[in-house]
Amino acid sequence: MEDKKKILYSGMQATGNLTLGNYLGALRNWKTLNEEYDCFFGVMDLHSLTVRQNPAEFRQRARNLFALYVAAGLDPEKNCIYFQSHVSTHAELSWILNCYTYIGELNRMTQFKDKASRHSDNINAGLYTYPVLMAADILLYQADVVPVGKDQLQHLEITRDIAQRFNGIYGDVFTIPEPYTGKIGAGVKSLQNPEKKMSKSDENPNASIYLMDDADTIRRKFRRAVTDSDTQVRYDVTEKPGISNLMDIYSAVTGKDMKEIEAEFSGVGYGDFKSAVGEAVAGLLSPMQERFEEIKNDKEYLDKVISANDEKAFYFSNKTLRKVKKKVGLTDRIR
Ligand code: TRP
Repeated sequence: MEDKKKILYSGMQATGNLTLGNYLGALRNWKTLNEEYDCFFGVMDLHSLTVRQNPAEFRQRARNLFALYVAAGLDPEKNCIYFQSHVSTHAELSWILNCYTYIGELNRMTQFKDKASRHSDNINAGLYTYPVLMAADILLYQADVVPVGKDQLQHLEITRDIAQRFNGIYGDVFTIPEPYTGKIGAGVKSLQNPEKKMSKSDENPNASIYLMDDADTIRRKFRRAVTDSDTQVRYDVTEKPGISNLMDIYSAVTGKDMKEIEAEFSGVGYGDFKSAVGEAVAGLLSPMQERFEEIKNDKEYLDKVISANDEKAFYFSNKTLRKVKKKVGLTDRIR
């Protein structure tokens, strides 16, 4: 019997500038997953509409995110990488699943409560039903596993609940997805407040390393990173969260463990350590930045890859959508 690979689904929103946290925590690891899984990665541009966007900037950013996926090493022949908004099945299944989701469930979503308080001038229905669209993304591809950060686990949980409810009524339509538990990469913290995660929406630009920061900017941000008044490079997340965050980053980039790093910088001040981290990160990002510039400017190549992958995504997802429509009793289109 042929060994069929399991299916993995993930994606990022095309909002804000991606950070080193997005890269070390997700993107960098995605490219190795296709050895074990059939992978789908979306540019989640429909989700981004839940917050008001400047149309011209948004369009550019979504396309840049796609180019960045490729620059980060996701092979568009081996992975299906595509724009959520180009594949109409997402919006369609999302509507249907809305009718199988309870208001009480959505009311419990902590990210909704948080975003509603931060965007109190625009608490739109899309923000509220955001998790249902995410459920549609995942369920359309019959995904077995979904790598997501902690902040998205609740959305994965509601996806499972919706799928189980639907299957309970109509039989086995959806695969019930599990969170991906493999190696997921470093949890990078803010350089200015190491208690918080490094975020693309942080107001302080010195708190985050953006993937497009040039080497000088990267060095400068690491030099300014908040540490403690001690002088020892020692891993201790509670007592020395700033230094420990820098050590996590350095370890993720160089592959060295904490003992090795402590030895390497024993008796050396924080300044030298910070410079080394800055150099390492600049060295990690610069090849990807160069590839990104090349890919971004190769319109013909990008267009070709985008259109081929959009089609693949539609083909797979439409199989599920057709089944769903039939199960719930929608009439067939006449061709
Ligand atoms: N909501 C996710 C985030 O902001 C992005 C996302 C949308 C996603 N649909 C998804 C992630 C499906 C995984 C699977 O991070």
